[in-house]
Amino acid sequence: MTDITPHGGHDQQPAKLGYSPRADIEHRLRLADTDPKAARRAERQVTSMFLLSMVFVVLFVVAYIGIDPSTEVYIPVFGLTSALNIALGLTLGLAIFLIGAGAIQWAKKLMPDVEVVQQRHDQLSPDSDTQEAAANYERGKEESGFARFRMLRRTLIGALIVFPIPLVIMLKDLWVPTPEEEGKSPADILSTTLWTADMRIVSDGTYKPVRPEDLPVGGLISAVPADLQEVEELQGNLNARGKAAIILVRMEPDEIRAQQGDGWDYQGILAYSKICTHVGCPIALYEQRTHHLLCPCHQSTFDLADAGNVVFGPAARRMPQLQIGVDAEGYLVAKSDFAEPVGPSFWERG
Ligand code: FES
Repeated sequence: MTDITPHGGHDQQPAKLGYSPRADIEHRLRLADTDPKAARRAERQVTSMFLLSMVFVVLFVVAYIGIDPSTEVYIPVFGLTSALNIALGLTLGLAIFLIGAGAIQWAKKLMPDVEVVQQRHDQLSPDSDTQEAAANYERGKEESGFARFRMLRRTLIGALIVFPIPLVIMLKDLWVPTPEEEGKSPADILSTTLWTADMRIVSDGTYKPVRPEDLPVGGLISAVPADLQEVEELQGNLNARGKAAIILVRMEPDEIRAQQGDGWDYQGILAYSKICTHVGCPIALYEQRTHHLLCPCHQSTFDLADAGNVVFGPAARRMPQLQIGVDAEGYLVAKSDFAEPVGPSFWERG
């Protein structure tokens, strides 16, 4: 049997709700419990917080649209900082804070501060307990004032409805085209990477040019184009890396069953895009005995000894292969750019 016993009390609402404050515990009433004017004042305060929260969401949108991302302001301690980041952080932070602060004020000033003890036992409740729980729920609804304070309820719902708007707007920043990419379709953009004829292949991380003898049979190296570092510094983002990253694997030449072009390997060394053709996770899980490359995100599996074809999983397209050779000094180089777009296949559907 569930027993809800009030400890402490509230002069008006407990009686109205069907129980009395315990006589043995002194309970201090709040101003809003006894003075209807104070209760209305508290209601206005909370309402204002929810309304202000909505105003800050609107200001977030205005800042996002109106402030140039290159504008900087001086902030003590932090120095020169992006004005856009400051404005977005402040407005979104205040919008969230005001919803939280309003909810706390509502609970502290307007909901009854009654203590109850709920004794629990068996998990399976008899019908009478279920009915009692339903009655307690109704009582809780009444106590919270959600039904009673119409303005509070509406402004809270309004604040929660507009609150996700900044999150939707920020989705746009998932991809910011560079000036050269403006106006091009994603498929066009993904068809052009930094790889060009005779571009050296360098190890990712150390940026050291790779020689064929650096890669033993069965080995794998993550690699990038030689000029990637410079381009990244110029562009200030990782877009070029996201398209040009490759893996080099080496197998015995007679283990290669098919390639995307005749002789695209160099003495058993094959270069493939590192970006999964499903939804774009970087891949470097290689099983040297089967020559399978496994994507950790959704388990697409590609056979690198068979032209990078899909052997398992949701990817709908093979991994693009890069034709490679060596230059006069014996370093591995690309022979051209990829022959097909890298990355997720769904870009091509448009
Ligand atoms: S991203 Fe590779 S399988 Fe989904």
